[in-house]
Amino acid sequence: MSTAKPSPSSPSSPSSSPSSTSYDARFRVWRGDAGGGDLEDFKVEVNEGEVVLDIIHRLQATQTPDLAVRWNCKAGKCGSCSAEINGRPRLMCMTRMSVFSRDDVITVTPLRAFPVVRDLVTDVGFNYKKAREVPAFVPPEGLGPGEYRMQQADVDRSQEFRKCIECFLCQDTCHVVRDHEENKTAFAGPRFLMRVAELDMHPLDAAAEHGLDRKKNAQDEHGLGYCNITKCCTEVCPEGIKITDNALIPLKERAVDRKYDPLVWLGNKIRRRGEQ
Ligand code: SF4
Ligand code: SF4
Ligand code: FES
Repeated sequence: MSTAKPSPSSPSSPSSSPSSTSYDARFRVWRGDAGGGDLEDFKVEVNEGEVVLDIIHRLQATQTPDLAVRWNCKAGKCGSCSAEINGRPRLMCMTRMSVFSRDDVITVTPLRAFPVVRDLVTDVGFNYKKAREVPAFVPPEGLGPGEYRMQQADVDRSQEFRKCIECFLCQDTCHVVRDHEENKTAFAGPRFLMRVAELDMHPLDAAAEHGLDRKKNAQDEHGLGYCNITKCCTEVCPEGIKITDNALIPLKERAVDRKYDPLVWLGNKIRRRGEQ
């Protein structure tokens, strides 16, 4: 049995498996602004260990100095470099070139669900607006900072949601808004329904004592009913947060329980009568 490694040019070496040597990749990058644009083709050098963001930076350095791209940490933590790579929402800094074949044409486009500012930069202001619409944590009365006590299980549960880096890939991929601009008013999207779920399951949140029912709020103000639990948001989350299983489905279950709870029904009926 031969143990010799095939050379890169050997027929037995698939061109789809990059070796340690450099090669030129074919990139198609969307260029344009709010008025319109198109894909532009480039050939650009790739070296071992590089990620898509490295290639975009090389493009800026060598061929397209005015290419607009947003990034910050290059470590998968700031959530800035979100884009669509071959149609899939991804972080450019966490997408290794080694996952592609050398023969692939790699297409990089801006997030589709948000308006383009220029090239790969989109206006994600929709998400900040939705964030502001979620009522904040209501501190428990009679307890000061440092006096809050929680079970470890409750801490662990919300810790998962706190890993969110606000890359908005989940918001971008959710079909409720991706192809339906008109739904944006009524639907907060997975990232912010997850925030509502986190607050709703927080054992110290005193919202209910101040008349705020977070389950009803999720249904009426944030469009929980639009979500049909396709799990696409979970599939693209770079933090591996189980958005659908651990936040959205439990929130939906609690909202349904609330709706069909006979005591809630009776209470609402009495309240409505009182208001007449
Ligand atoms: S599970 Fe719900 S929130 Fe997530 S992508 Fe599907 S419809 Fe959107
Ligand atoms: S939940 Fe995941 S995909 Fe959505 S914004 Fe946070 S980190 Fe990004
Ligand atoms: S540059 Fe910060 S997540 Fe990619």
